Amino acid sequence: MPKPSTQFVCQQCGRTSPVSFGRCPSCNAWGSMVEEPLEMPATSVPRHKGVPASHPVRLDEISGDAEERLNTPISEFARVLGGGVVPGSIVLVGGDPGIGKSTLLLQLAMEMTSSAYGSHPVLYVSGEESERQIKMRAVRLLRMENGEPLTELPKNLLLVTETNLDTIMEHIQQVKPELVIIDSIQTITLSEFSSSAGSVSQVRETASRLRELAKSSGIAVFVIGHVTKEGVIAGPRVLEHIVDTVLYLEGDRYQSYRLLRSVKNRFGATSEVGVFEMRDRGMVEVINPSEAFLAERLVNTPGSAIAVTMEGTRPLLVEIQGLTTRTNYGNPRRTANGLDINRVLLNAAVLTRRAGINLTEQDVFANVVGGLMVEEPAADLAMSVAIASSLRDMPVRADMVLIGEIGLSGELRWVSQMIPRLREASKLGFKAAVIPRRTSHAEALPSGIEIMEARSLQEALRLSL
Ligand code: TYD
Ligand code: MG
Repeated sequence: MPKPSTQFVCQQCGRTSPVSFGRCPSCNAWGSMVEEPLEMPATSVPRHKGVPASHPVRLDEISGDAEERLNTPISEFARVLGGGVVPGSIVLVGGDPGIGKSTLLLQLAMEMTSSAYGSHPVLYVSGEESERQIKMRAVRLLRMENGEPLTELPKNLLLVTETNLDTIMEHIQQVKPELVIIDSIQTITLSEFSSSAGSVSQVRETASRLRELAKSSGIAVFVIGHVTKEGVIAGPRVLEHIVDTVLYLEGDRYQSYRLLRSVKNRFGATSEVGVFEMRDRGMVEVINPSEAFLAERLVNTPGSAIAVTMEGTRPLLVEIQGLTTRTNYGNPRRTANGLDINRVLLNAAVLTRRAGINLTEQDVFANVVGGLMVEEPAADLAMSVAIASSLRDMPVRADMVLIGEIGLSGELRWVSQMIPRLREASKLGFKAAVIPRRTSHAEALPSGIEIMEARSLQEALRLSL
């Protein structure tokens, strides 16, 4: 029997199989299996015997200094990276098409090349846009003052439209940049591979070669990857284990806030978040996100409560809204926007059964303002109180935050990082906080904010409504 020359590869998770499945058995994505030629990457050629490229070093002889970092502009970006760009690292920036990845990285490139940040030479490789289009965007991003651009276009920033990896490697050899940006990995091809651009094997092999380049030359490489819903081009997930750092740019396309979130970082904390706003002059850092998220709040309106969530190491105040209306027909509906629907279902059930808030004939809508996604159970209490507040048509005190996880018996559970959460609330002028009863009194809670302890959801409702 002849050897098969193709295989089926899931474009979401990279699972291979000799036969196609309608639904990938590994990651459960539908319709993501695509036939690709069986290809042997050139990098699997065995090395010379006898001359090892690496050699073992004694642990105590390795220098223990912290990672060297390039002076990085855009402090929100630097935060998410764990302090700045690490030379020789490879970073994946993923996100939905049109969310602002190219804009953010072009801004990074323009600032890195400026003399204020050490004039690092940068090469921006685009497989999607022409040099002219990128220039037009760069002009748009220049800071303006009195109708005049404040800074000149950077001289150290080189652009090239190219999709062939070998040619890109040659450009890198010639230009010798400190930072390379690849926009996007799904457009780059290796000539020795016959599968189309964006297939799992192309994307993986391209990323591996870029990683080798980063490690051997000390150049920092940023790779943009589009998140795809359909299985036509490979999603960034198949790259997550190849790169050092994975950042996702998220946000509601119809709202201006964008969150840059680290989901993997060999050089810093994960789940760190940077907050930006997409304006007509590019992405602007939001220095005080809690304030921004609360800016449009109507105080003393029923159906609104303030939660304090942790995004990485940073506490964030967000408004959670609840709305109940009588069910007109059929089963009551529960709708979640920015919240985990399972937690909405659970909290609605606990409200009904344990706290005397009867939602059996009510449609319930729960929403997080600002396009943020809040999945933490610590937001349970604010969500439940917002829903109860809507049903009773009674507002929550405007200067109160609510923090706590709710269990099935209606008990309030302690959550981690309580002190930074309370501090942030106090800093923003909130005067009272309903929190779960403490089991140990080891940590002193911050002063300046009145702490109201509640053992159960019912007690918390008495304190807040
Ligand atoms: P882009 O960076 O091209 O997205 P991605 O690379 O993730 O696909 O962003 C495109 C969107 O951003 C587009 O809808 C226009 C908008 N935009 C602004 O709102 N302000 C700006 O200054 C720029 C450059 C783009
Ligand atoms: Mg783009």
